[in-house]
Amino acid sequence: MWLIDSSIGRKVVMSVSGIALILFLTFHASMNVVALFSAEGYNMICEFLGANWYAVAATIGLGALVVVHFVMAFILNYQNRKARGNNAYAVTNKPEKVEWASQNMLVLGIIIILGMLLHLYNFWYNMMFAELAGIAGPFDTPKPSDGYAFIEQTFKQPVYSVIYVLWLIALWFHLTHGFWSAMQTLGVSGKIWFNRWKMIGYVFSTIIILMFLAVVVKFSIFAA
Ligand code: HEM
Repeated sequence: MWLIDSSIGRKVVMSVSGIALILFLTFHASMNVVALFSAEGYNMICEFLGANWYAVAATIGLGALVVVHFVMAFILNYQNRKARGNNAYAVTNKPEKVEWASQNMLVLGIIIILGMLLHLYNFWYNMMFAELAGIAGPFDTPKPSDGYAFIEQTFKQPVYSVIYVLWLIALWFHLTHGFWSAMQTLGVSGKIWFNRWKMIGYVFSTIIILMFLAVVVKFSIFAA
């Protein structure tokens, strides 16, 4: 199948899965902003996204998207290196005007996956998984649908606040480049539209990351 067999097909798969993940992040950041205003409102959403068939189906779909995106990134990176062959290390002068993020997408992706594993442990494991598996934590562990309490518990530990801020910075670099790179793969052409999509990508990624950061800052600094 050309989507998997050809280099352009694999790039299309990366772009489409990347855009789907950006849509998930948009939903997730919007949902988290509710925690800035209302504990009850936030927990209502968490309860809705709890251990039921549609939430589990969405989690499986999301996991599949992450795996596809990640595996394709490795294959494309491997092919690029192979194509450059012995010349891969011959050029020491980095080309000008190539953004730092574009040269480090794989490294940024690995940092994001590592942060995600920690994040899934902090929240998903203690919430959805605990509910599905019927696991009860120690006596002071909040109940699985009390997402608000898990946010409080996580960010009152400064080490998590620092790790999450670094993780979000890596995610910002990854998103800003990934956004317009996807648009380019999917056929945006012409300098004017290319620059417009680049700007839209910057603004959109910045808004999403600021929404996540607002939660980290509020619960790290201003929480009781
Ligand atoms: C301030 C930052 C964040 C907070 C407070 C937060 C909070 C949460 C909470 C409460 C859940 C559990 C929801 C549930 O199972 O009902 C969750 C799940 C999840 N979060 Fe986050 N999140 C944050 C940032 C992020 C970021 C930046 C990413 C991605 C890069 C991310 C990816 C995920 C994923 C993949 C899940 C599992 C979703 C599922 O079960 O379907 N989160 N998060």
